[in-house]
Amino acid sequence: MLPHRANVDVKLAGYDVPKGSNMLVNVWAIARNPAVWKDPLEFRPERFEDEDVDMKGHDFRLLPFGAGRRVCPGAQLGINMVQSMLGHLFHQFRLIPNISI
Ligand code: HEM
Repeated sequence: MLPHRANVDVKLAGYDVPKGSNMLVNVWAIARNPAVWKDPLEFRPERFEDEDVDMKGHDFRLLPFGAGRRVCPGAQLGINMVQSMLGHLFHQFRLIPNISI
């Protein structure tokens, strides 16, 4: 995630973080934690059909837009753009031979 700076001394997950520290939350590692996701390195998008996962910052297992006060303000626009882009690609190209969508 983007770097965040502590503006006060804070205790985080048992660690003392002094005021002025720059912190990077490793969301890559969180999303690949086997304690959180089954077979995290497998490309299996249908895993999200089995579980109710919020992607706008309320479920820390998946944080594409960050969370909290600095959460991405363009999240909904980003989601709409990705859906629209995929829709155009699927409409214009046959990406998987012999399968029509
Ligand atoms: C799929 C598309 C997008 C993704 C994955 C994404 C992801 C992110 C992430 C991870 C952050 C950092 C959040 C944090 O540090 O807690 C962020 C911040 C931000 N995003 Fe996005 N974003 C997307 C689209 C957009 C769009 C379309 C806009 C504007 C039109 C936008 C505007 C911003 C701004 C202004 C911030 C900084 C917010 C702040 O620091 O207060 N993003 N975004």
